[in-house]
Amino acid sequence: MRVPSAFVALCEAVVLHRDPQRFALLYRLLWRLAHEPGLRHDPLDPQMLQAQHMMRAVQRDMHKMRAFVRFRPVAREAGLPPLHVAWFEPQHRIVEANGAWFRRRFASMHWALLTPDACVEWDGQRLHVRPGARREDAPPADAGEALWLTYYRSIFNPARLNLPVMRQEMPRRYWRNLPEAEAIGELASAALQRTGRMIAQAASEGNRRIPLWQAPASAPVEVGSLDELSARVQQCRDCPIGALATQAVSGEGPSRPAVMVVGEQPGDQEDLQGRPFVGPAGQLFDRALQRLGVPRATVFVSNAVRHFKFELRGKRRLHKTPTQQEALACRHWLEEEIARVRPGALVALGATAARSLLQRPVAVLSERGKWFERADGVRVLVTVHPSSLLRLPPAQQAGAFERFVKDLGRAWSRASDA
Ligand code: URA
Repeated sequence: MRVPSAFVALCEAVVLHRDPQRFALLYRLLWRLAHEPGLRHDPLDPQMLQAQHMMRAVQRDMHKMRAFVRFRPVAREAGLPPLHVAWFEPQHRIVEANGAWFRRRFASMHWALLTPDACVEWDGQRLHVRPGARREDAPPADAGEALWLTYYRSIFNPARLNLPVMRQEMPRRYWRNLPEAEAIGELASAALQRTGRMIAQAASEGNRRIPLWQAPASAPVEVGSLDELSARVQQCRDCPIGALATQAVSGEGPSRPAVMVVGEQPGDQEDLQGRPFVGPAGQLFDRALQRLGVPRATVFVSNAVRHFKFELRGKRRLHKTPTQQEALACRHWLEEEIARVRPGALVALGATAARSLLQRPVAVLSERGKWFERADGVRVLVTVHPSSLLRLPPAQQAGAFERFVKDLGRAWSRASDA
């Protein structure tokens, strides 16, 4: 007989449930599916709901087993790798069904999962299913466990303790076989006090990855020079970004260049190295210059904003677009730089740079490739930011790169005409 594939998946899970009525329930549903065509479309049928509830209980148990199994290595005779043995007491008969997941996850080690119902062993080649075992068959705690406990204690964050959620995620019945469970009581009872101490402590420094910028001890810088400007901008706290970045990144390149290129703000790599356009967007920009036969050393490269604005995601610092106020607060640094560099022409890469240079909002897509004149008489060519090319689907990247090169080419052909 034909049944929906979802029903087959339901049966595969429900047969692992410990309820002795599971086969009777599944048989009843099978019979009804054959005789009541409407059943498959009835989301509120009580028997179907009961089976789905059982399926979820089995899935939850399988998931908990994956999360809470703790292996202990057992040495074996010479020539054989250690066998990693774990004792677990699942709520349902899931060990065999879960074996394939453990085989994929721990393919390179030899392991055995012991449970009262059945045991599964992986010898690096095959999964073997054996009869159930007793807790005493599993090895006792080892030295690795003490290390694991130390680690657990040190990563425990008292300020994030939420006992009801913890009990829900890690029900007490699993604690018996979890080495870290013995630390939970002690850590939980000290949590309130520790959190109080953490609040009372002074705030720590931001997430800097290298030490704060320090003025070089030697050589006093010439007043009015680019070096002096770079030294001053390091102290800038006109907006909040500066306090979190590693250092301010000033423009670099020759004075009086034919073209000065302005981007948005330094990225992760630029922030660490203290130089503009050295990360992925910079590499794309360099490729465009190579296509045009323009040596990078002849171009002055800078940014509208001097500090890297980011958001922390785990350990990664993800670029965040600066706000208009932040770009505005930074504009005088760019203007002072332009006044010292005195470029033949400016190229704005993206909307933030274009707005800072032209002092008006710029619709980059409709105004790209065009020249605009600033109040100081310097002309500005607008184009897209190279990082926007990196975000395009691969099929569109080559065409977009050609257009970008063409836009940049305009800047240099005009500069060489001048
Ligand atoms: N993006 C920018 O706008 N500037 C850089 O310096 C690097 C990436």
